[in-house]
Amino acid sequence: MKTKAASSVPRHVAIIMDGNGRWAQIRGLPRIKGHEQGAEAVRECVEGCGELKIEFLTLYAFSAENWQRPKPEVFALMHLLERFLKQKTPELLKKNVRLQAIGRLTDLPPACQYQLHKSIETTAGNNGLTLILALSYGGRLEIIDGIKSLLREVEAGHIDSAMIEPEMFSKHLYTRYYPDPDLLIRTSGEMRLSNFLLWQLSYTEIYVTPKLWPEFTRHDLFAAVEEFSQRQRRYGAVA
Ligand code: FPP
Repeated sequence: MKTKAASSVPRHVAIIMDGNGRWAQIRGLPRIKGHEQGAEAVRECVEGCGELKIEFLTLYAFSAENWQRPKPEVFALMHLLERFLKQKTPELLKKNVRLQAIGRLTDLPPACQYQLHKSIETTAGNNGLTLILALSYGGRLEIIDGIKSLLREVEAGHIDSAMIEPEMFSKHLYTRYYPDPDLLIRTSGEMRLSNFLLWQLSYTEIYVTPKLWPEFTRHDLFAAVEEFSQRQRRYGAVA
């Protein structure tokens, strides 16, 4: 692939929103207060993306592994998600944001699924930022689901297995309608991918900030985008 400089604004930003629990713990608050404050940071970040004219924002809101958290925390997170969607959909509509979701969505509680699909439908006609929530999402599970989907096509005789290429496989992932992320942001200083978009992040620029997610503001987003604009993306070629 041809060498090129990063364009100043990424088309697609993906974020691992980490540190809600620590934010609450430092303040002697229950963890759910950190998640509630985290939902406010989501709002701030969506507005920042709108200002920068970023086209796609994918947020790791609930991983497939998060089901292993204590039941009351999982329950509270699902309730928060449902409430967030109910309350913020009019705002998303006004801001021309189109909501989408990836992951094993049928794992979510029925009330949550109902609200999610309602919000997706309500915002379907918008053509500004596409906000993609990763819910009950796991990168390895997505790859397995993609392989199963591809195998069904091979078995039906639609595809010859010798013809399988990365581009074709990408069309069997949850993210088939979106470009790969240009920039991945992770908060709270951890240097891990945590099973997020494993296939799609192959050539993505990574930016880690020590800030905890509930403290993340649009200015932190601008700082990440500014650093991104200084990077040279080589896609494995020579500069
Ligand atoms: C990680 O922090 C965050 C999560 C597991 C959930 C993210 C959820 C939100 C930001 C709020 C709800 C989202 C939406 C879209 C309404 P952590 O709990 O792992 O933090 P810790 O590592 O400090 O314990």
